[in-house]
Amino acid sequence: MGDLTTERSSPTGTAPVLVASNRGPVSFSTADDDTLTLRRGGGGLVSGLSAIADPSAVWVCAALGDADRRAAAEAPHGRLDLAGHDVGGQAVRMLDIDPETFARAYNGVANSTLWFVHHLLYATPTAPAFDAGFRTEWQAYLAYNAAFADALAAEAAPGAAVLVQDYHLSLVPALLRAARPDLRIGHFSHTPWAPPEYFRLLPDDVATAVLTGILGADRAGFLTRRWALAFADCCEALLGATVDRTALTVTHDGRTTFLGVHGLGADADFLRDRAHRPDVDERLAALREAVGGRRTVVRVDRTELSKNIVRGLLAYRHLLRTRPEWHDRVVHVAFAYPSRTDLAEYRAYTAEVQRLAQEINDEFATPTWQPLILHVDDDFPRSLAAYRLADVALVNPIRDGMNLVAKEVPVVSDHGCALVLSREAGAYAELADDAITVNPYDIIATADALHAGLTMPADERADRTKRLAAAATALPPQQWFLDQLNALG
Ligand code: F6P
Repeated sequence: MGDLTTERSSPTGTAPVLVASNRGPVSFSTADDDTLTLRRGGGGLVSGLSAIADPSAVWVCAALGDADRRAAAEAPHGRLDLAGHDVGGQAVRMLDIDPETFARAYNGVANSTLWFVHHLLYATPTAPAFDAGFRTEWQAYLAYNAAFADALAAEAAPGAAVLVQDYHLSLVPALLRAARPDLRIGHFSHTPWAPPEYFRLLPDDVATAVLTGILGADRAGFLTRRWALAFADCCEALLGATVDRTALTVTHDGRTTFLGVHGLGADADFLRDRAHRPDVDERLAALREAVGGRRTVVRVDRTELSKNIVRGLLAYRHLLRTRPEWHDRVVHVAFAYPSRTDLAEYRAYTAEVQRLAQEINDEFATPTWQPLILHVDDDFPRSLAAYRLADVALVNPIRDGMNLVAKEVPVVSDHGCALVLSREAGAYAELADDAITVNPYDIIATADALHAGLTMPADERADRTKRLAAAATALPPQQWFLDQLNALG
């Protein structure tokens, strides 16, 4: 793999804890004067890893763009911390994988194939079609996974714990075990897992490689029991593995892998503090002015095909068409942030969201009422402002590993918010009792659920929101991370 990464190995090999994920905790851009500017990212993994505050921990990630690649190439063995970058509480090794290999692995296999399989997104009469092009992408995915396994093997101290994240890196556990049998290896899936009938759309050798790759781990973690059992079902059906559904274990080829369920929760302390900073207050004031005292239905998503934004808009349109009493009394605030814009399907989906939003405004707007406010540019403080304002939050994914928006809104809400929640979101397992739950494909039922949320009495809404917030914060990111580390022994 020496041709794929800057160098085969670092001179250290002393990290007691390692994390591996495609997207790392920092990213770079190039300023006008050609210097590199570093930006720190957020999210569950970043705050989870902060629990161990161990500067000798190493996070291995991929360079995602040209500026990242330059930073990785300029750093010794890709170690950004050793090049003097302020990367946070741990060391970061960024892999300078060549752009073509990276694009094939990330866009071709991870995002266009494995993501589609786990979220059941294919229009199966015509897709997928696993042809020679796919085989080239699969070779790149093998190389990309091998680059990660090489880097982890080089950085890890004897007996270290390695936590590998997500569908991008499903082959890493088995590759790493072969290179370093002394390591304790965990894999965590942040997505749903497909049922066997759907998972076996993958070519047989690819399906086998993905399953046996993850089974190379000592523990395979999932966000809900439903996804863990789906993985076990696939191992049983496709590999003939032995599954114990009570102990949650999968035994294959003489090795047993333990399955873990760790339902990542919202980071209440961070959110409550961040949601009351001046930049959020400013945006809240602007939103309030735009909404003009009317009720609000809020949704905040990355524009992923699995988020079901189009059917959400159709449901809102159905509400306005069938219940005219809401005209001039409600505003739908929809934030659909850019995601994976390299993929044509994602760009087309965003265009469809914009087209439909325009159609709804054309049909219902009056000189004094704009029924739908859509933003497609990313603005985190504005999202928090919308969370605070929302009377109803619409979270209706086709399928979702967890969906943290469903957990964040109740934590941040100013006066209580009814949650309309898809039964196909992982968060359903913990929030169903106090949410209004929907079949995400049923537009009329979703419109009815919006109406039920909008008419829910204020005290009931506030009570439910309190219980939702308690359930949503049961496993904060730091504990979520420590639990997995401790379970590795
Ligand atoms: O939400 C699921 C997830 O797989 C996260 O674990 C991960 O951070 C993200 O999607 C990957 O998205 P991107 O392609 O933007 O890096």
